[in-house]
Amino acid sequence: MALRPYIVGNWKMNGTRSMLAEARAIDRSAQRLMKVEVALAPPFTLIHAVHKEAEQIGVGAQDCSAELDGAFTGDVSAAMIADAGAKFVILGHSERRQGHGESDALIRAKTEAALAVGLKLIVCCGETEQTRDAGQAEQFVVDQLAASLPELLDGASERLSVAYEPIWAIGTGRTASVADVAAMHRAIRALLVDRYGDEEGGSVRILYGGSVKPDNARDLLGADEVGGALVGGASLTAESFLGIVMAAVDLQDA
Ligand code: 13P
Repeated sequence: MALRPYIVGNWKMNGTRSMLAEARAIDRSAQRLMKVEVALAPPFTLIHAVHKEAEQIGVGAQDCSAELDGAFTGDVSAAMIADAGAKFVILGHSERRQGHGESDALIRAKTEAALAVGLKLIVCCGETEQTRDAGQAEQFVVDQLAASLPELLDGASERLSVAYEPIWAIGTGRTASVADVAAMHRAIRALLVDRYGDEEGGSVRILYGGSVKPDNARDLLGADEVGGALVGGASLTAESFLGIVMAAVDLQDA
């Protein structure tokens, strides 16, 4: 059975306790919108507080360390975020890859650390504008993902999602065309099936991210092989985030 659409808000480095009211409003609405799976990834400092507010939505982190524990000043382990109430972690976001020099191999190590403590994963991939203009976007993304994903899922396919986020669409107000999103998601599906087999690879949700807003969500979510959205800026208020959730609900009803 196909999984419900998955709409995930990535708050990035935004949010203090004053934003808990937004999380609460999102959670209360999500309780009435059960056809869609809704989640938020606040900064580390708010995970526990959002977890305590949340009756319906999933709560996750935006990163974790590949290390178990020890002398790694400033790092946060998978076990620590799980202990704070996180049920999933976003890994390999382009802002981690580009801003912190994270390699595909490091991201794979993080996926394995997160799976080992029972977390769900959202593994991100995406090309630069230069790579797309050079006609190499699909090959680049497939290679990046192939090297970043865990080797084995061992029956954990429901715990893995992939997010395709073209870097040039993040925070810019530009989105990939529906046709380009569908083509990329089909290429990602082929990789997943090749890696994990028909059943497991076929059931992993592939999210689109990059300037998803209430007014473009329906088109993007309706594209072939799009199983949800990873939302940055528009997840910071309940009003705009719920507009995207409602677009996913409407599509389910259509
Ligand atoms: P925006 O929705 O702000 O473009 O961010 C997308 C993103 O990076 C989500 O992880």
